Amino acid sequence: MVEGQPKVAVVTGGASGIGYAISQRLIAAGLSVVVADVNLEAAERAVQDFRRGGGQGLAVALDVTNEASIERARDQIHQRLGDVSYLVNNAGVGSAGTALTTTSEEFRRILEVNVMGPFLVSRAFLPDMIARKWGAIVNVGSIAGTVGIRDRAAYSASKGAVLAFTRSLHADFHQAGIRVNAVVPGTVETPWVERITANDPDPAAAIAKMAERQPIGRMGTPKEIAEAVWFLLSPENSFSYGSLLVVDGGMTAL
Ligand SMILES: NC(=O)c1ccc[n+]([C@@H]2O[C@H](COP(=O)([O-])OP(=O)(O)OC[C@H]3O[C@@H](n4cnc5c(N)ncnc54)[C@H](O)[C@@H]3O)[C@@H](O)[C@H]2O)c1
Repeated sequence: MVEGQPKVAVVTGGASGIGYAISQRLIAAGLSVVVADVNLEAAERAVQDFRRGGGQGLAVALDVTNEASIERARDQIHQRLGDVSYLVNNAGVGSAGTALTTTSEEFRRILEVNVMGPFLVSRAFLPDMIARKWGAIVNVGSIAGTVGIRDRAAYSASKGAVLAFTRSLHADFHQAGIRVNAVVPGTVETPWVERITANDPDPAAAIAKMAERQPIGRMGTPKEIAEAVWFLLSPENSFSYGSLLVVDGGMTAL
């Protein structure tokens, strides 16, 4: 940890999947973790799990698309824990469709959560980091933002923007002592994968097929992504700035 700096971390979408594993990893690293999720009940359940495991956490309701909700969450966090030094912009939503089959409403909804979200939440917590001349932010991208993937028009556009926004945050704030990086996961087995295969006649077979398509014959686990996020956030890692760390089981290297 950094002497004299707060150990408070905010993880958006921390109640489920990758965000849950990130929250757990940051608690293990000794941070006070805020599980900030639009689903407060799920965030509270996650924090209860962490407490049973001997960790600490705070659940707050936060909708990354809603400025009033972000302000309320920020006030609550400041009151309970003080300034925030670590931020993980993880909350995100997926969508299947080509440019012809995605409606304008759906395209806007995906951009709203996946792009406006990290913008609004970063803007809320950057002043804490700037005031203390230290901070670390990780944005959760996706390989859909770096290579062409079929049927992911809105999602790919949104994740490409997340990666560009990561570099822009780095350009604007590295001199203020803030390290901004992105993790770029491949396919990871989370409740999301269960949701997108739920309507398949045989969901288990559909999940197995997704796993077979991976170069190493399996999807990633949320824990594997969480480990990479901690690597990027860790004060020990003081030379990663504006980087995009691909963690995809080798998928995009082929
Ligand atoms: N699962 C994958 O294969 C995969 C691959 C690459 C990147 N990602 C990215 O990882 C991140 C997490 O995905 P996941 O698979 O863990 O999904 P998930 O659906 O399991 O979890 C997403 C969490 O975000 C929360 N959330 C959704 N909208 C929100 C909003 N408006 N405000 C606050 N919280 C909100 C949900 O309540 C949920 O707890 C996303 O950004 C996703 O794009 C996932």
